[in-house]
Amino acid sequence: MQIRNIKLKNYRNYDNIEVDFGNKLNIIIGNNAQGKTNLLESIYVLAVTKSFLSVKEKDLVNFNEKFARISGIIANNTRSDCKLDIIFSDKGKMVKVNDKEVKKLSKYISIVNVIIFSAENIWIFKDSPSTRRRYFNMQISQISNVYLKYLSDYNDLLRQRNEFLKLINVNKQSDNYYLDILDEKYSSFSVEVFKYRKKYINDINEYLDEMYKKITGDSGLKLIYHTDVISDKDIFLEKIKKNYSKEILHKMTLEGPNRDDFYFILNGKNLSLFGSQGQIRSAVLALKLSEVKLFNKITGDTPILLLDDIFSELDIDKKNNLLSSIRDDVQTIVTTTDIDNIAENIRKNANIYKIDNGRIVLQNLNN
Ligand SMILES: Nc1ncnc2c1ncn2[C@@H]1O[C@H](COP(=O)(O)OP(=O)(O)OP(=O)(O)O)[C@@H](O)[C@H]1O
Ligand SMILES: [Mg+2]
Repeated sequence: MQIRNIKLKNYRNYDNIEVDFGNKLNIIIGNNAQGKTNLLESIYVLAVTKSFLSVKEKDLVNFNEKFARISGIIANNTRSDCKLDIIFSDKGKMVKVNDKEVKKLSKYISIVNVIIFSAENIWIFKDSPSTRRRYFNMQISQISNVYLKYLSDYNDLLRQRNEFLKLINVNKQSDNYYLDILDEKYSSFSVEVFKYRKKYINDINEYLDEMYKKITGDSGLKLIYHTDVISDKDIFLEKIKKNYSKEILHKMTLEGPNRDDFYFILNGKNLSLFGSQGQIRSAVLALKLSEVKLFNKITGDTPILLLDDIFSELDIDKKNNLLSSIRDDVQTIVTTTDIDNIAENIRKNANIYKIDNGRIVLQNLNN
């Protein structure tokens, strides 16, 4: 899958630009605060309709304007030259495929698969579990809109259940009866969400350590999925029922995918607690490269790989190990402040762009 061209109108610090991308490696150079991250972000937003940064939609619109538009031409296995548009305004957001509005975002999100690495990704593994759940929800949704459906059903039910736990009168027969009805459904959606998450993490682990070794030369990395959910729905339902009195006391749901967590271990040690900055960064990069492989296996197409400022904190060998471990057929867009970060033999086949204050001042196209 490739993005061939992007046009930005009033997006962040861009007023009007158009960029053509090559099929292989594309390198975006620019000093700090010129718009490198914003450009990568715009490709991500075009694909999944929201930013990977925790920002409000209106922040994507240029400070002085009322709307922003991202338009892109995408080619994948099944469609060549598919035009996508996303428009943000005070009326909300609107997406279009080949100039036709698409109302269902879940349909739109599965069209383009992107994998992004940015400094914020490192925070995912330092931040609270809800950040990690949000992250893995987005990743799994990109390859499965069935998961997205289960997840939204689950979230609806969780909301209902939490509201009910605030009001429940345990002495009332009808209240107990209603909780039983909710929990029949609650346990089945929980198990569905659990199955997708478990499979995703197992699949990632098929590649993760190999990728970590390619970048760092070391091995022993694993991603762990921590959950209270059990694959057998009836046993899980029993488990919930045993906890009723505690839940009623706390007035909230205490068991389910809403409490799940994910973390890395490196040779048995939790990386978020004991890892160095460089180790965490390399682990997250290994995760991204594993996602590229997994998406490719599932969809039969390669996702677009966006790497924002990957070079800081990696030593010179790791930088070039990383770039040379990316397969040639994966369209990759990287940003850097310093072109000297990239070895000459990798650079010579790449497209090179220079950004200065929201303008493209150089496009050197080689592929
Ligand atoms: N909604 C917006 N309207 C106008 N400008 C914005 C908006 N949002 C962000 N900016 C500006 O965009 C500029 C460029 O940001 P960006 O994060 O893309 O820089 P960068 O090239 O990635 O820099 P660095 O090398 O420091 O990471 C910043 O000066 C920021 O203030
Ligand atoms: Mg940046």
